[in-house]
Amino acid sequence: APIKVTKVCCIGAGYVGGPTCAVIALKCPHIQVTIVDLNQARVDAWNSPDFNLPIYEPGLVEVVKQARGRNLFFSTDVDKGIQEADLIFVSVNTPTKKSGVGAGFAADLNYVELATRRIAAVAHSSKIVVEKSTVPCRTAESMRTILEANSRSGCRFDILSNPEFLAEGTAIDDLFSPDRVLVGSLQTPEGLDACESLAEVYSNWVPKERILTVGLWSSELSKLAANAMLAQRISSINALSAICEATGANIDEVAHAIGFDSRIGPKFLRASVGFGGSCFQKDILNLVYLSESLHLPQVAAYWRQVVEMNEHQKSRFSKTVVDTLFNTITGKHIAVLGFAFKADTGDTRESPAISLVRDFLSERAYVTIYDPKVEDAQIWLDLVEACPNVPLVNIQKQVTIARSSLEACKDKEAIVIATEWKEFREIDWQTVYNNMNKPAFVFDGRMIVDAVALQKVGFKVKVIGRGD
Ligand code: NAD
Ligand code: UGA
Repeated sequence: APIKVTKVCCIGAGYVGGPTCAVIALKCPHIQVTIVDLNQARVDAWNSPDFNLPIYEPGLVEVVKQARGRNLFFSTDVDKGIQEADLIFVSVNTPTKKSGVGAGFAADLNYVELATRRIAAVAHSSKIVVEKSTVPCRTAESMRTILEANSRSGCRFDILSNPEFLAEGTAIDDLFSPDRVLVGSLQTPEGLDACESLAEVYSNWVPKERILTVGLWSSELSKLAANAMLAQRISSINALSAICEATGANIDEVAHAIGFDSRIGPKFLRASVGFGGSCFQKDILNLVYLSESLHLPQVAAYWRQVVEMNEHQKSRFSKTVVDTLFNTITGKHIAVLGFAFKADTGDTRESPAISLVRDFLSERAYVTIYDPKVEDAQIWLDLVEACPNVPLVNIQKQVTIARSSLEACKDKEAIVIATEWKEFREIDWQTVYNNMNKPAFVFDGRMIVDAVALQKVGFKVKVIGRGD
């Protein structure tokens, strides 16, 4: 029979493990939730008395304030967390491999495997082990093999796949009312029982009809498929934005018109300077790798094109900036507004802003960056990684970080909008204009400015996906 879950442990206190399990604790006061991580600084931040949490996510502080110390705990004692729990989420990072077989494509499963081995090594009692990280198909099978080969007698491990669909910036809303929760299990009596135990946890706040239960492999593949299809929509609209710019059509109008078709739908059709974030590219490359491993080269090529179009969009935008600024930006001063990969997050992983700044630096322009949430140290780290042959001191001769849009734009020749922060919609453009060198240019990579109004002020304006 399905067990009733009373103690949950989550291995990995990152962007997924932290918010997800904090919400479980909030919604299930009868369940004790412990989130463990090897990273002491991260755990300290989760525990900080003034709620200076390690990630910024609207609504997250309120959730943690209510549950922390009541039935939500953060700790570096991974072993104790494992031993006490009857259900364990594995929510560790699964980055793209940087070397070895499948480098540049395959997921690095080292962290998942280490966490799994730790569970096998220290567990005294049976556990439901839930794969929360995004992983290639059949990873659950490997986890099961590792657990079974290393477990004490009398310990049973049931493996579930429960991929996470939250988006950063809206994580708390997404967790409070998810479109669906997906749980994959083996279709054996034990597998189905474990599945029911986890479904019961979610049913404390998620309507039953939104909790989908499927086979393990379908669940794992559905996560990669969902991200691939979402990213494909963006690459499709961005491919069309290039046609718009060349013809005088307006991508906003085109997206609006096609989105009215109920089969297509209006969401996720915003043209941009390119998609970023820790997952889209990684998960598509993972799917490409899987397809190739399965001897399906045409399928692999199809998905790879989604990532290639995204790379093209980023470099196309950089090129527009250079071309428009009279074919050279050497020695020119450019303000980059926004460094996060999307609004309402401090996360910069795979942010298109990084590629833009790198391109501007290689053209020997001076760049001033302003982002309301990204830490300075993170900007330097990202730029050092993006420009491997340039020492930080040299980068810092070309790049400065500003504390406001107004400060960033002062005495510049051009402004580039890279993230759609709400405050950039409320900029006092007349004041900005008065403080800039002329002619003053605005390049909007996020379609947030009113081009006509800015032109009236005196700006030369280029908006992604608009030919006029
Ligand atoms: P993250 O890097 O923010 O967090 C992972 C954490 O796991 C880190 O703090 C790390 O220290 C910890 N960790 C690694 N190995 C450990 C171990 N053996 N024991 C204890 N702690 C360990 O990553 P994330 O963004 O939370 O992503 C986690 C997974 O969720 C990935 O597979 C990702 O693809 C997937 N995912 C991410 C998002 C997102 O929006 N970021 C959304 C859905 C799914
Ligand atoms: C994405 C998915 O939306 C989540 O469902 C998934 O769980 C998550 O990946 C994951 O697996 O990590 P996230 O990357 O946090 O979430 O944010 P999105 O809102 O999807 O945005 C991704 C990128 O696409 C951003 O750079 C965003 O600016 C860009 N984007 C999004 C567009 O350019 N146009 C759009 O219409 C939508």
